[in-house]
Amino acid sequence: MLPVFYVVMEKTIDESIQGSTLSLVDKSNNGRKLYIESYGCQMNFSDSEIVASILSKEGFNTTQELSEADLVLVNTCSIREKAELTVRKRLEKFNAVKKERPHMKVGVLGCMAERLKHKFLEEEKIVDMVVGPDAYKDLPNLIQEIDEGRNAVNVILSKDETYGDVAPVRLNSNGVTAFVSITRGCDNMCTFCVVPFTRGRERSRDPQSIINEVNELWEKGFKEITLLGQNVDSYLWYGGGLKKDFEGASDMQKATAVDFSQLLEKVALAQPKIRIRFSTSNPQDMTLDVIRAMAKYENICNYIHLPVQSGSDRILKAMNRLHTRQEYFELIDNIKAIIPDCAISQDMITGFPTETEDDHKDTLTLMEYVKYDYGFMFAYSERPGTLAARKLEDDVADEVKKRRLTEIIDLQQRHSLERIQRNVGETQEVLIEGTSKKSDMHWMGRTSQNTVAVFPKENYKVGDFVMVRMDDCTSATLIGEAVGLSHNN
Ligand code: SAH
Ligand code: F3S
Repeated sequence: MLPVFYVVMEKTIDESIQGSTLSLVDKSNNGRKLYIESYGCQMNFSDSEIVASILSKEGFNTTQELSEADLVLVNTCSIREKAELTVRKRLEKFNAVKKERPHMKVGVLGCMAERLKHKFLEEEKIVDMVVGPDAYKDLPNLIQEIDEGRNAVNVILSKDETYGDVAPVRLNSNGVTAFVSITRGCDNMCTFCVVPFTRGRERSRDPQSIINEVNELWEKGFKEITLLGQNVDSYLWYGGGLKKDFEGASDMQKATAVDFSQLLEKVALAQPKIRIRFSTSNPQDMTLDVIRAMAKYENICNYIHLPVQSGSDRILKAMNRLHTRQEYFELIDNIKAIIPDCAISQDMITGFPTETEDDHKDTLTLMEYVKYDYGFMFAYSERPGTLAARKLEDDVADEVKKRRLTEIIDLQQRHSLERIQRNVGETQEVLIEGTSKKSDMHWMGRTSQNTVAVFPKENYKVGDFVMVRMDDCTSATLIGEAVGLSHNN
């Protein structure tokens, strides 16, 4: 079957279609079931909720059973080679199911769709449809194409799509915590990272539509939201448009622009009882105003995910991370001075091209300085098309990458244990998210610092803010006992 993506692309180049809002009239149940699976970052999980919303308006009901799916969508991740291999393996499984259900269609969404485009159709015969992260509003048209027996591709990146007007259908929701997207794309061009290529240029969502979504979540009983973006601290609303075009905005637009610290404040004031988190912060874009807003509002959680990637100035520069080790320390000092009990987590990459033993030691000493609460650590994976792939040889041997990775993971585990132990003996507020995975008799929830806590259920319920006395811990979980409801209920 030959792809007809030219036809579909022409349609979506038309601005009136790209920018069109969704039909307000829901089509009745079309009897078809959508099975959607997500990989990678939180943004992908959040995008899948947007996709489910768009398709529910087309009459699709979601199902958690692959065996009864009429349409399978897989929202993919390209960040490391392994993430892509996982998706390819999953496609094999879908292929097996399709043998039983020949009418079942398979679509690939997200970053792999954007990276591989129509090549996907050639490489994976099972795929009927390839849809990039800014093209989900075109799904109804694309599905019509595949229903008529043609393959369909839309991988056009947009300068204004934020899906601000789509109310996400909450998938696999615990009814307590939810993601709210605030920016899309990334302009930072870290040399190892594929995201700027797969998610396009950075743009921010209208603060009013963000607040409306948060208000609706509160009314539905949600108690915690996470504001999402590849680089949230770079949020800037000036009436629409790309972040990079802000310089050319009118004086009026500049005077009334809303930055991330102001957005945080607006959300915190709009719903003073909802807990607010945000992710991810790039150190070079995090301002003191953000840290001060966190300190000022009790409902903004005391937790910052602050990836640094490396402790070596030379490697930071080669990665195009626009801060030095010293500047990072100053940021950490400011956070600890303004919010003494703030938890901080990291992302690290070992074995970036040219990384020496000395560079690696710089990473270990940086970790000693910060003592992160936890972290996400990876061996460098070369991504096609990135500046690092084009300009630098992937010259650190796999065994060396792995050994360095093990060293930083071991150090992080020691720090995690040290940090979590400080909570034992304290009484802290925990928001109950659900039953503990290990015991039906215990609730699982998180503290403001994002630490997981478990405690006996008693008469408390999901969604309660409970004061918990922490009696014990493992390196990742606090174990305690409830002493009463928090005043925040
Ligand atoms: N701003 C994003 C970061 C995206 S990627 C966010 O919101 O999470 C998440 C992490 O994956 C990065 O911080 C980095 O540590 C890691 N990563 C990205 N590209 C990588 C690569 N090519 N190889 C190994 N790890 C990578
Ligand atoms: Fe990637 Fe750097 Fe942006 S890690 S998502 S290019 S901040």
